[in-house]
Amino acid sequence: MKHTNENVSHLLGLEYLTRLQIEQIIDQARPMKQLFTRTVKKVPLLRGRSVALVFFEPSTRTRTSFELAAKRLSADTLSVAASTSSVQKGESLIDTAKTLEAMKTDFIVLRHAASGAPHLIAREVKCHVVNAGDGQHEHPTQGLLDTFTILEKKKRIEGLKVAILGDVAHSRVARSNLWALSKLGAHVAVCGPETLLPKGLPEIFGPNVTVTSKIDEAIKDADVINVLRIQLERQKENLMPSVREYAEIFGLNSQRLATAKRDCIVLHPGPMNRGVEITSEVADSHQSVILEQVTNGIAVRMSVLYWLTGSPMMTVQKAKTLPSESEQLL
Ligand code: CP
Repeated sequence: MKHTNENVSHLLGLEYLTRLQIEQIIDQARPMKQLFTRTVKKVPLLRGRSVALVFFEPSTRTRTSFELAAKRLSADTLSVAASTSSVQKGESLIDTAKTLEAMKTDFIVLRHAASGAPHLIAREVKCHVVNAGDGQHEHPTQGLLDTFTILEKKKRIEGLKVAILGDVAHSRVARSNLWALSKLGAHVAVCGPETLLPKGLPEIFGPNVTVTSKIDEAIKDADVINVLRIQLERQKENLMPSVREYAEIFGLNSQRLATAKRDCIVLHPGPMNRGVEITSEVADSHQSVILEQVTNGIAVRMSVLYWLTGSPMMTVQKAKTLPSESEQLL
């Protein structure tokens, strides 16, 4: 199949991708995931390339899954953290990026507290820049892995009712989900306290996106519920009464989940505040796909890295015939 990433050298946000490009990355995550069933999960698709993981904000899932994704494609990885790098001596982000480029790094995967930080370095370096979460702006690989997980479970995105619950105003995960799901034709009900809901969402994302502060309205007959983490660290003023009241009014519990469709699935990007935005009963229920999201994160990130190189699209059929890294070396 023809690759459609012409002129797309970086993954900065899902806002900038077409529906077809989003579909291609997601389609290609299927053969990548199939590789996980092998004993030797490593294939030589990115052998000889190097991926710099530059994480200037804490992360468990995104950092480790990008590292595993790169390693399963046989790329070399290197990690740069703010606390142990020359950022502590006042080095600028652009100088850090240019330093990694001078080492002939092929990819810079960046997590940064400032919205637009990946865009800034993408203008300065020739290597591929991948946004691993920038401030309150976007978290494109989370949006892609959430969409891939929904597609795996529901076999379609078009026409589904997806409820996104919580602190939407501070959520880069919500924004990337909104771009992907609205482009792929889902109906998205965004719900949270009024103080945590940004204005103008339907104007930006189209008429399939509705906004409400009534959780029962958002959840009713939903096919999918994506619960967001309450991000107390990003709230500069008191935007909700108390964590206890938030849990009572907006938390997803079993009683509320029962009003969604019987086969509704529950997503959460992690890390979870159990007992706040989601009860343990729901998080650990058979309707929860939270750990499958984690597994899918590796496949989607493998797909993103490979896709950005402009190589021919990987298919399930082709993946079956790929030699593993150890077979290549024999
Ligand atoms: N979902 C997510 O971004 O998790 P981490 O902060 O652990 O990477």
